[in-house]
Amino acid sequence: GAPVEVDISKLEPGMLLMVEWRGRVVWVLKRTPEMLATLKKVEDELADPNSEKDQQPEYARNETRSIKPEILVAEGICTHLGCSPVFRKEIAPADLGPDWLGGFFCPCHGSKFDLAGRVYKSVPAPTNLVVPPHTYLSDNRLLIG
Ligand code: FES
Repeated sequence: GAPVEVDISKLEPGMLLMVEWRGRVVWVLKRTPEMLATLKKVEDELADPNSEKDQQPEYARNETRSIKPEILVAEGICTHLGCSPVFRKEIAPADLGPDWLGGFFCPCHGSKFDLAGRVYKSVPAPTNLVVPPHTYLSDNRLLIG
């Protein structure tokens, strides 16, 4: 599959863009400072907070799992059985509970991921969401693949 170029100049903070790459959905999420601040807060509840056993390129092996701290690029494919998790950015919605600070929820079997695509403990998904290879051609031009 060919790489896909994405213009992120119009991506507002807090918004999620969905891109197709190699027949898969790739998310591009522009995280707000508030969203980035949640990454530390949820660490104790995550199965692999340092992303040691999941897949991401070396350049995304960091606290935000990204090249630019605010931009998350991740495959929108649940690492359990491949369903599409849903972006749930609300804080503490009734169905996800008071501890929910925003992230991705898989409706198939209830797996939860934080705003860096890191999986919570005690859910069926075994690993964090995959960060695909990507690079920036310029400030606002992202190349996936
Ligand atoms: Fe997502 Fe099973 S496929 S929880």
